[in-house]
Amino acid sequence: MEFFETLDARHSIRKYVEGAPVDADALSKILEYCNAAPSAGNLQGYRVVVVRDAEQKAAVAEAAFGQTFVTSAPVLLAFVADFATSAARYGDRAQLYAIQDASIAATTACYAAAALGLGTCWIGAFDDGQMAKALGVPDGSRPVAVIALGKPAHTPSSRSRRPLADLVREGTYDGPGYGAV
Ligand SMILES: Cc1cc2nc3c(=O)[nH]c(=O)nc-3n(C[C@H](O)[C@H](O)[C@H](O)COP(=O)(O)O)c2cc1C
Repeated sequence: MEFFETLDARHSIRKYVEGAPVDADALSKILEYCNAAPSAGNLQGYRVVVVRDAEQKAAVAEAAFGQTFVTSAPVLLAFVADFATSAARYGDRAQLYAIQDASIAATTACYAAAALGLGTCWIGAFDDGQMAKALGVPDGSRPVAVIALGKPAHTPSSRSRRPLADLVREGTYDGPGYGAV
């Protein structure tokens, strides 16, 4: 798929085809592109946890305030910021960097999946402690996002976005809207 087609093809998918597994080659490809994502100092201050077990998916859904649709995804990819890895070099900025590293990798997973015709949904609403427990995340690391991954069972239309003139400003935060000058 051409790059801009991939960008257009990605939408949040909240229903997955039951019994349609994610092919092992496709999953490896997605994970390889996550691994190629940029990270602060190339330290890759995050870890990816692959969740396939039905009981564990149910625990993740529970931690995500009952978002049970995630259990219909054959695979969940949990992106966990690993503060210790970033702290070795970045001190006070380590948490920020590790969260950015994990977020970029998770975003990459969403677009790589879209390029392969797979659907994803970013899950960011969850109880931190409950999610850490469901994923076996130790103190000093923090779950950032869970990406549900599977064959889409619906084709959502694009969600509307803010106009660029509001989102993008010239020069300063409150500067004139993009296109106004
Ligand atoms: C930080 C973040 C947290 C999100 N958390 C959730 C979530 O917990 N549950 C959910 O269904 N979607 C979640 N989403 C998906 C957004 O709702 C979705 O991206 C947005 O509505 C735009 O729709 P689109 O992805 O189809 O373009 C999250 C997205 C981001 C980036």
